[in-house]
Amino acid sequence: RHVVILSGGISHERDVSLRSGRRVSDALIKAGARVTVREPDEKLLPWLEQHFEDVDVVWPVLHGVSGENGALYSLLRALEVPYVGSRPTAAMLAWNKATSKALVKRAGIATPQSIVLPNDTFRELGAASVIDAISKGVDFPAVVKPVEGGSSQGVSFVNEKAEFSRAMVTAFTYSDGVLIEKKVTGTELMVGVLDFGEGPFAVPPVEVVPHSGVYDYAARYNAGETTFFAPARVSEAVLAEVSELAVKACQVIGLADVARVDFIVDESGKPWFIEADPIPGMTETSLVPLGIQAAGLEVSDVYARLAEHAAA
Ligand code: DAL
Repeated sequence: RHVVILSGGISHERDVSLRSGRRVSDALIKAGARVTVREPDEKLLPWLEQHFEDVDVVWPVLHGVSGENGALYSLLRALEVPYVGSRPTAAMLAWNKATSKALVKRAGIATPQSIVLPNDTFRELGAASVIDAISKGVDFPAVVKPVEGGSSQGVSFVNEKAEFSRAMVTAFTYSDGVLIEKKVTGTELMVGVLDFGEGPFAVPPVEVVPHSGVYDYAARYNAGETTFFAPARVSEAVLAEVSELAVKACQVIGLADVARVDFIVDESGKPWFIEADPIPGMTETSLVPLGIQAAGLEVSDVYARLAEHAAA
């Protein structure tokens, strides 16, 4: 099989994508695949058309807007090139935290109370009046995050009204909308969901314990800054519930092949949906590979099966 991995791109998560792409490439080569790694640049589509007969499947390992908003998936569909990943609309719905939260909530999955603020509103009405208005409806502590974004970039915790301005400016740097969400304290669990064509299943939820207390960009990508527990140190019942909810969230949003769903389990043991990732990190410190290993599976076999299924 010839697998074309797309990594890099022009998103804020370019570096992460390059790292993920390398890991996926190494794993597929180990499994015996022929691999080409490319940037999703302006030469990509002509190149794909030219090599159509020789390419079995494309795997966009493109985090952030380069891959996760679904636009590239649409182009690949238009070219009738098989790819590893979800339908374009599903990726788009997951990529936007407000839409994914609304969808899972409607399906009965708990997600923290939130408000979305578009940049236009902020500009038109003025920061002070908006902050004044929303702070009345927000329970502190709150989390302010880009409505579209990944790897915790642009995310701030806000304990009081005075901290809003800075948090919003930071979040707007990454996205045209900001999501202000009630902060849930508890155990952070990330669940990989895979599908080889026989139906989606969850690999064991991975618990992250960042040494700084916050699972931010540094804690995600610097080896040694986070301790991972795979499977997570929660009861069997919570493990089962979170796994089931992760699969359900993927089904509701429409995510396929490989995705990750993140939860926080509060002190009472209740899981709260935080977000779903249509192209989850595959770096050496990422969670999906850890979950796959915790399931007793070989990462290279799993990636080869995903590529095989997409190419079929
Ligand atoms: N968005 C990154 C890649 C992740 O959360 O894994």
